Amino acid sequence: MIDIRGLTVEYDGGIKALDSIDLTVNEGDSLGLIGANGAGKSSLFRALTGLTAFTGSIKFNGLDVIKKNLPSIRQDIGYVIQESDDQMFMPKVIEDMIFGPVNYGTSKEDAVKKADEILKKLEISHLKDRYNHKISGGEKKMAAIATILMMKPKVILFDEPTSSLDPHNRRTVINAINGIDSTKIIASHDLDLIYDTCGKVALINRGRIVKVGDRDEILRDRELLESNGLELPLSMGGR
Ligand SMILES: Nc1ncnc2c1ncn2[C@@H]1O[C@H](COP(=O)(O)OP(=O)(O)OP(=O)(O)O)[C@@H](O)[C@H]1O
Ligand SMILES: [Mg+2]
Repeated sequence: MIDIRGLTVEYDGGIKALDSIDLTVNEGDSLGLIGANGAGKSSLFRALTGLTAFTGSIKFNGLDVIKKNLPSIRQDIGYVIQESDDQMFMPKVIEDMIFGPVNYGTSKEDAVKKADEILKKLEISHLKDRYNHKISGGEKKMAAIATILMMKPKVILFDEPTSSLDPHNRRTVINAINGIDSTKIIASHDLDLIYDTCGKVALINRGRIVKVGDRDEILRDRELLESNGLELPLSMGGR
């Protein structure tokens, strides 16, 4: 479904955020993307959605990620970005949630009905009519996830979906992620979250893929994790 070959992202100033990486994501995969701060996780998501320039090739369902294909590709990819402040652009949570579906032809009534279901599932019905700029960081994250779920994208990219969430909301988000059939890529330092939601894991260090493997193969390997700036998940005996 996603085929990445020789992907290199170099920012102004010569910083190579990604250095010639290859990665394949199959339909239905739930792939964890792990790596220390600055490893290149968000850069990979930005390249995939055409938000940053890159060299090499990325194919999404056979289509090259190039400018002319972006409108079609973006319809199929939901992206929960790392900074939820930049995700929401309508005044109220409900308005953000129904914006996409209504834009694509769903009636307002049906969109609101769907929004109510998702808000209920995420246990955030109380945020429905709140203003985006007047809710807390964690509430924004929950609202951003709710907005992405409205579009039922074929692939969802989650960039640190549980950062700033309290334990209850973190668990709610994990359950919601596990309840979604879409193909998923989840970038996080929260390796317990990755363990609970991903079957496969790709470990990145300084712009290079160190290893791709099954969840247990990577997340139980203390030496591998520690030599790449990470620690064993708590549930695996980490600190
Ligand atoms: N707009 C930018 N301009 C220049 N350098 C950038 C830019 N964005 C990111 N970088 C650099 O690229 C590298 C990779 O950054 P990226 O945001 O992809 O890392 P990350 O793995 O998502 O990190 P984190 O876990 O902190 O979110 C870092 O060295 C970062 O400083
Ligand atoms: Mg990041």
